[in-house]
Amino acid sequence: MRAVRLRGVYRPQADTHLLAEAMRRAGMPRNARVLDLCTGTGVLAVIAARAGAARVTAVDVSRRAALSAWINARVSRAPVRVLAGDLFAPVGEDVFDLILANPPYVPGLRRPVRRGRARSWDGGPYGRAILDRVCAEAGPRLAPGGSLLMVHSALCGEAETLCALRAAGLDASVVARRREPFGPVLRSRAAMLEDRADQAGGARGGAGGRPCRTMRRDGGSSWSRAAPY
Ligand SMILES: C[S@@+](CC[C@H](N)C(=O)[O-])C[C@H]1O[C@@H](n2cnc3c(N)ncnc32)[C@H](O)[C@@H]1O
Repeated sequence: MRAVRLRGVYRPQADTHLLAEAMRRAGMPRNARVLDLCTGTGVLAVIAARAGAARVTAVDVSRRAALSAWINARVSRAPVRVLAGDLFAPVGEDVFDLILANPPYVPGLRRPVRRGRARSWDGGPYGRAILDRVCAEAGPRLAPGGSLLMVHSALCGEAETLCALRAAGLDASVVARRREPFGPVLRSRAAMLEDRADQAGGARGGAGGRPCRTMRRDGGSSWSRAAPY
């Protein structure tokens, strides 16, 4: 899908496609209420609407991203409600059958960036600033049987995500992985990441993508996953 993208808004790329593919494989539940967190251009929200979701909500903290998503939904004639704001804050008490999230997850800078293009990818020191919030806050936003599909880089720690999801009362597993070469941002941080891995005794690897699957403990299924930059 070709998407309108205002200046500074994240261009849909490998992680977007990996998440779209995971959604396609999981199948759209009947009458699904879908939330696309960190929507960017809104392509995942539009794909969810086209896949038969009954109601789609798209949220982004960036007003330019929210406007891009709104334009793309209108152009595609997809019934998507677009809200600007921080993660779950704009949706109040609503619950969802499927939550999609491709949050900023590139590890690097000391504090998460609050402005500009880098807000699309910078996830704070270990890439987990937004990821951990999604893990902690998603549970109560899932309807019984609901699912979370989330993508992030293996560099952020797949085990940490699984632990965080389980600690929040979800059953979690990886549902897909894909290896991707480092993009320009990660290449520019490679030396720093390598030093960090050396200090932690870790091995150097590519930015392999890793989806995980999460299940609500009440028996419903949900999915979460992780990918690359
Ligand atoms: C990696 S991009 C993903 C865009 C789109 N979902 C895709 O897959 O192409 C991450 C998006 O998260 C947004 N974002 C960053 N922090 C956020 C927050 N606290 N709440 C909501 N959106 C946020 C950014 O503005 C950016 O559009």
